[in-house]
Amino acid sequence: MKIVVLAGGLSTERDVSLSSGRGIYRALKENGHQVILLDVFLGLPDAWSQYPPETLFDQDVDWAASIQGVAEKAPDLDQIRALRPDFRTLLGPGVLTLCQISDMVFLGLHGANGEDGRIQALFDLMGIRYTGTGHTSSALCMNKHITKQMFRGTGIPAPPSITVKKGESFELPDEIGFPCMVKTCCGGSSVGVYRVEDVFGLERALKDAFALEDQVLIERCIIGREFSVAVVEGKALPVIEIAPISGFYDYKNKYQAGSTIETCPAQIPQNLSARMQRHAEAACASVGIEAYARVDFMLDECSGEDYALEVNTLPGMTPTSLLPQEAAVLGYSYAQLCEWILQVSLKKYQ
Ligand SMILES: Nc1ncnc2c1ncn2[C@@H]1O[C@H](COP(=O)(O)OP(=O)(O)O)[C@@H](O)[C@H]1O
Ligand SMILES: [Mg+2]
Repeated sequence: MKIVVLAGGLSTERDVSLSSGRGIYRALKENGHQVILLDVFLGLPDAWSQYPPETLFDQDVDWAASIQGVAEKAPDLDQIRALRPDFRTLLGPGVLTLCQISDMVFLGLHGANGEDGRIQALFDLMGIRYTGTGHTSSALCMNKHITKQMFRGTGIPAPPSITVKKGESFELPDEIGFPCMVKTCCGGSSVGVYRVEDVFGLERALKDAFALEDQVLIERCIIGREFSVAVVEGKALPVIEIAPISGFYDYKNKYQAGSTIETCPAQIPQNLSARMQRHAEAACASVGIEAYARVDFMLDECSGEDYALEVNTLPGMTPTSLLPQEAAVLGYSYAQLCEWILQVSLKKYQ
C-alpha cells in the first residue's frame, strides 16, 4: 500500500508525535509498504517539492532521518510557527496532495489538530482514508469535560469534578476537596495538568491552566495506582500499570526513559483487571470509538473503585508507548501492531 504517515504539527505533543511517526514509518516500511513520513505542519521538505508527487513513494530515502528524541519539556511552538511565517493553512506544502494519492494515511498525530477530529473531518470530505476513529468521537474525546458527560451518561465511574470557565467564580464542592487535580479541558500528555494541595496551589494552578485554555476541570485527586487499557475493535487489551518513580504521570515521567515503571499485564487480581477492561470497552462505546483507542484509569486505594480519566483516540505509538506494550503481551511485535491498526482502520471503508 502507498501510505503517508502524518506526525508533528502544532500541538504541545509535537515531539511525541514525531517519535510515534518515526516508529510507525519504519515499521510500515519493514512490512513492505511504500511509505512517506511528513510533518503535517511543515510539509514536504523543499528538496522534494520539484518531484512529481506520485514518484515520491518510490524514492529510496529515510524520511525519518532528522527526527530527534522527545525532550524533557514540551516544544516551543512559536519556533515551529516561525518556520512557516506566512502560513494560512495548518497543512504544510504537499501534505494534502500526497494524502490524496495515498491508499491510506496513518495518523501518528497527538493533541490539537490531529487528535481533535478536524483532520478526520477534512479527510472524510476529501475522500482520504485514515487510521483510527472518526471525527465525532475524536472531537468528543479531545474535551475532557464532554467525555465525562458521556461517561456519566452510561454509568462509567469517573472522578467527581467541576468545569470552570475563565473569569467565572466557583465553589469547590466537598466531594472534590484537597488534594485535587486541575487540568485544561483539551490538553494532552499531562501538559496543563497540575496536582494541587491547598487553596494557594489551586489559585496558582488555575492561573497557569487559564493561560493555556479558557475552560478548566477541577477534579478529585484519586489516590492510588494508575492503569491504562487499550481497546481495539471494541475488545480490551491486557491492562498496563504505570508507576512513576516520583510524582504523577506528568510530561517528564511519560517520555523520559527510566522515569516510570510500566508493568503489563498489571499485577492485580483477575476480577479487577476484567472490570477495568469492561469499563474501558464501555468507555470507548460511550463515545463511539471506531478502530482503536486507549483509556486511562486511577484505582482508588481506599474504595478499590477504578475511575476512568479520559479516552486517548490516537494513543502514543513510540516503540515504548503503552499500547505497543499491551499488544506485545498478546504476541504482537511493534510492526505487527502497526499492521493490525492499519487493517482494523481499513474496515471503516468496506
Ligand atoms: N483525578 C485524578 N486523580 C489522580 N491523578 C490524576 C487525576 N487526573 C489526572 N491524573 C494524573 O495526571 C495524568 C494526566 O491526566 P489525564 O487526565 O490522563 O490527561 P492527559 O490528557 O494529559 O493524559 C494522569 O496520567 C494521572 O497521572
Ligand atoms: Mg492521559
